[in-house]
Amino acid sequence: MILEALNYAACWPLTSAGHRPFIRSSVNLWARADRCRAAWAEHERRTKAAILATAEGCRQRRTVVVLGSGLLRDVPVMELSRLFDTVVLVDLVHLASVRGWLTIKGLKNVRLIERDVSGLDALLAGQPLEPLAFLRQVPYLDLVVSANLLSQIGIGASRRLEGQAEEAALVRQVIAAHLEGLAQVPAATLLVTDVGYTMIDRAGTAHETVDLLHGVDPGSAELRWDWPVIPFGEESRDYQIVHHVIAQ
Ligand SMILES: C[S@@+](CC[C@H](N)C(=O)[O-])C[C@H]1O[C@@H](n2cnc3c(N)ncnc32)[C@H](O)[C@@H]1O
Repeated sequence: MILEALNYAACWPLTSAGHRPFIRSSVNLWARADRCRAAWAEHERRTKAAILATAEGCRQRRTVVVLGSGLLRDVPVMELSRLFDTVVLVDLVHLASVRGWLTIKGLKNVRLIERDVSGLDALLAGQPLEPLAFLRQVPYLDLVVSANLLSQIGIGASRRLEGQAEEAALVRQVIAAHLEGLAQVPAATLLVTDVGYTMIDRAGTAHETVDLLHGVDPGSAELRWDWPVIPFGEESRDYQIVHHVIAQ
């Protein structure tokens, strides 16, 4: 609790006023990731491996952008920093703990951008929905990674639009816009995202399955695995919630 409060307080002055409301959920994620580190380890290993395989396959390695870099738990940032001239990390919030870690590691070619990449503000303002258009301004872009972000964009949009008549349609639009934006990037791309989750009891019986992409088809995945985001004992002794992840 004390560490969480310190991280929160240290992050406050480093974060723009508009993004401060997101500090809490990042700190909560930080705490949960620590509690669930054993259950999450394989998912983090597989995400890192997928990112590295794509990075190593890039003919040129000048700039890589990681969308949803978050806590850098599933992003192999040390390796990316060695492979690329510049590493750009994009998230709503970059926690003080993450900033401190980057400083200690001396990763001088890593840049942080605080940005909402959902495009929801533009959509609600009646502007064109091109959430990844800013990537056109990134010089020498060779790789864009969407790192376990897309489902969170959907969840954030649902939260903001809750109860509105057009909620479902708008959430689908922002999810689809992320996929379209990635498809249009003039560089290699890698999408890693959880696409749904299942609540499972101790006997292995599935109780409820939820589509985190709200019916939007992400295309055919090259890799798939499960991620026990809420393992037994985290929220309930009797149930775990397992997310289904794709990489492509
Ligand atoms: C599940 S975490 C990803 C984990 C991260 N890749 C890591 O290695 O720790 C999702 C991340 O997406 C970020 N996020 C959620 N909605 C976002 C948005 N609209 N724009 C930018 N980042 C967002 C969250 O702040 C969080 O850091």
